Amino acid sequence: MELDSKDLNAKERWEKAVSKATSRFPERKETFTTSSNIKVDRLYQPKGEEVNKELGYPGEFPYTRGIQPTMYRSRFWTMRQYAGFGSAEETNKRFRYLLEQGQTGLSVAFDLPTQIGYDSDDVMSEGEVGKVGVAIDTLEDMEKLLDGIPLDKVSTSMTINAPASILLCMYLAVGEKQGVPFEKITGTIQNDILKEYIARGTYIFPPKPSMRLITNIFEFCNQYVPKFNTISISGYHIREAGSNAVQEVAFTIANGMAYVDAAIESGLKVDDFAPRLAFFFNAHNNFFEEVAKFRAARRIWAKIMKEHYQAKDPKSWKLRFHTQTGGSTLTAQQPDNNIVRVAMQALSAVLGGTQSLHTNSRDEALSLPTEDSARIALRTQQIIAYESGVADTIDPLAGSYYVENLTDEIEKKVNNYLDRIKEIGGAVQAVEEGYMQREIHHNAYEIQKNIEKEEEIIVGLNKFTLDEEVEPDLMKVDEALEKGQIKSLTRIKEKRDNEKVASALAALSENAKNERANLLPFILDAVRVYASVGEICNVLRDEFGEYQGV
Ligand code: 3HC
Repeated sequence: MELDSKDLNAKERWEKAVSKATSRFPERKETFTTSSNIKVDRLYQPKGEEVNKELGYPGEFPYTRGIQPTMYRSRFWTMRQYAGFGSAEETNKRFRYLLEQGQTGLSVAFDLPTQIGYDSDDVMSEGEVGKVGVAIDTLEDMEKLLDGIPLDKVSTSMTINAPASILLCMYLAVGEKQGVPFEKITGTIQNDILKEYIARGTYIFPPKPSMRLITNIFEFCNQYVPKFNTISISGYHIREAGSNAVQEVAFTIANGMAYVDAAIESGLKVDDFAPRLAFFFNAHNNFFEEVAKFRAARRIWAKIMKEHYQAKDPKSWKLRFHTQTGGSTLTAQQPDNNIVRVAMQALSAVLGGTQSLHTNSRDEALSLPTEDSARIALRTQQIIAYESGVADTIDPLAGSYYVENLTDEIEKKVNNYLDRIKEIGGAVQAVEEGYMQREIHHNAYEIQKNIEKEEEIIVGLNKFTLDEEVEPDLMKVDEALEKGQIKSLTRIKEKRDNEKVASALAALSENAKNERANLLPFILDAVRVYASVGEICNVLRDEFGEYQGV
């Protein structure tokens, strides 16, 4: 008779979870050994001692050691390179190249006009079309972007926030055209507006309507797209703006709590949406602090979800995250040095148990990455995965006096920040008061001062410099692209059924007035008839207004 989990001790429970997990994801090898044929166990625990409950077992609350019972012994993290530039066709070519080179997930970078809800032919878009990401105006661009990519097999992350609901609906509409049912579609939409107010800046609407659109996505996906991760609560950009590791985790988790509160206030049950919340962190230079940061973040979130929100489904307790190596650590000087930085940062993310990883390219302090640079960045992950052996046992740094102490310290300091933010009235209030922004700016100023005083050494920048820097081959985005994109948008607007577009936009406008209405179905109808990102955002601007920032 199968013993109930509650009758098993922690180790037996874990072993049971291992056999369940390996039925879907068998381990990569029968046995793992070192180069000297020493067997590598799945997990190492202190000999002859009680397992510390704060550490527990991988795949078990509080998940300090990882969220899966077998972690990378069964499945490596997803190698998911952020890519996008120029037209949908050009980006589709880069996507296919990266998939051919062995990347295992897609990640879309959109240009700024798309991110802040302007069409390519809008005066606000001039000079930015296709610059920092791919230009997406209508469903036709999304179809070209995903041409030849099976949405029932590949998971796609979309870095889009204010207009997230529109790009999600375009993605679903492409799935429909491929004949893939919504419930089979997997991926992630960043959909995290609070960090946009704090650090990144691609917001459109004020906090209240923005939170409504975000929780509309939670509700819609819970019902129709259950395998889609509805938000990627991001610390990456908070760190890029100059926070330290503790602030990165604290402000991200505070934002996460604000989204959970908003979803519950909108009438959703915590276990209906929490399993599909995801996170996104930075992998920065201080190696052991970064490893400890990821472990502490998992433990903090698990306790908040289980104890504070009383979530009952263990999937609600698991902090699943993507990592990108720190863009702000890249130097324009001696760009090849960045390959080494990125490798160590990527290693810290893997030893910290990331589910998905983007490794920056060596030339990204200078421009978008060339194909060669993007390939080296991906190869960095593959070398860590296949050659270093670090993925052959779970959470190998556990038990290190330094790493465990750092993990505990980070947990304590993050909780102090969370208490402070609670006193202010939560993350939305703290953002509106500029509290997090001030904390970040202060830390950023300290970092810059230390670099200038050479108290913090950046190799090639303030020490070990070259008299002559040789500029490497850089990627250039063809300036003619903007004209081409505008031409294709004009053609679509002439070709489409404009009566259907007008009525879809009118229905959206009508329902935007009703705070209880979920707007996703109306946005989906609008994108299906080729209404554009700008047209849909303008309807919402008319109803919600635009946020002017603090
Ligand atoms: N045992 C059992 N099951 C396992 C397993 C194991 N060892 N390993 C994985 N699995 C399962 C998972 O449970 C999952 O199944 P499920 O969906 O049924 O639970 C499946 O295998 C896929 O695994 P993951 O979900 O762990 O991996 P994904 O890659 O699909 O998802 C994620 C990872 C973090 C949850 C997801 O949110 C994600 O991919 N995020 C990516 C976000 C991203 O790329 N952002 C880029 C932003 S760029 C940016 O903003 C910076 C710019 O501004 C400069």
